[in-house]
Amino acid sequence: MSKRITAPDVLAAKGKRKLTMLTAYDYPSAVWVDESGMDMILVGDSLAMVVLGQEDTLSVGMEEMLHHTRAVARGAKRALIIGDMPFLSYQCGVEQAVLNAGRFLKEGRAQAVKLEGGKRVVPQVEAIVAAGIPVQGHIGLTPQSSAQLGGFKVQGKTAGAAKALIEDAQALAEAGCFSIVLEAIPSPVAARITETVPVPTIGIGAGPDCDGQVLVIHDVLGLYDRFLPRFVKQYARLGKPIREALTLYREEVEQGRFPGPEHTFAMAEEEKTKVAKMKGKKKGP
Ligand code: KIV
Repeated sequence: MSKRITAPDVLAAKGKRKLTMLTAYDYPSAVWVDESGMDMILVGDSLAMVVLGQEDTLSVGMEEMLHHTRAVARGAKRALIIGDMPFLSYQCGVEQAVLNAGRFLKEGRAQAVKLEGGKRVVPQVEAIVAAGIPVQGHIGLTPQSSAQLGGFKVQGKTAGAAKALIEDAQALAEAGCFSIVLEAIPSPVAARITETVPVPTIGIGAGPDCDGQVLVIHDVLGLYDRFLPRFVKQYARLGKPIREALTLYREEVEQGRFPGPEHTFAMAEEEKTKVAKMKGKKKGP
């Protein structure tokens, strides 16, 4: 088994090689992502939408996030596991942020946490880092603030907005983040942030010049068909073969073609005869 990737390894990769990150939410997906050689696994709060079928990421809580992080931790032995801090698990203050970040390591067995926001979450980032917990930042389209942003919209489209994002990224790097996710921002802005900050940028809808890329596993595998953002590339469309397999199973059961002899446990002839002669007691009146 190769050695676990650490937050300092991710930091040290800046300018040397591209970093890879994908979400996972359970044991089998964690095994697949880990075996594919990914650097980081994010147990994203996108869980709310792609696994729990919710409209947005706002309703998912600490207990659900920890439950799924534990499952991922059982499956991933090499990738750095990052727990995504859910809405209202860090916004209410520094103490709340440290305690909940700590739970991701202590109970979820993650090795780092991610939280959304720029300058306004600097006190939380500093306090979590001071507690010895690696933090990944997340700026641009931050889904937990979608009500404030007016929806799931591309951010940083004007020079003024781009300047604010660059300042946010600098503030997060100074506060101690080991990397920063840049979501849904024009590529020239992401490129500028990437050359400005000393920590790796991990893009999602932020163009090719980031230090690494992240996507949601259900999007990559074609398992979520409610909505497909422009920045997603589907590397497989598994929804169709899954539906076909399930339909075939149902048909074979209905038609008596499953289970076949190869799926059935046999019995010695002598015992079989005894069973056939047994008289069962009738139930009911
Ligand atoms: O929750 C999530 O999956 C994320 C990624 C899209 C970065 O935050």
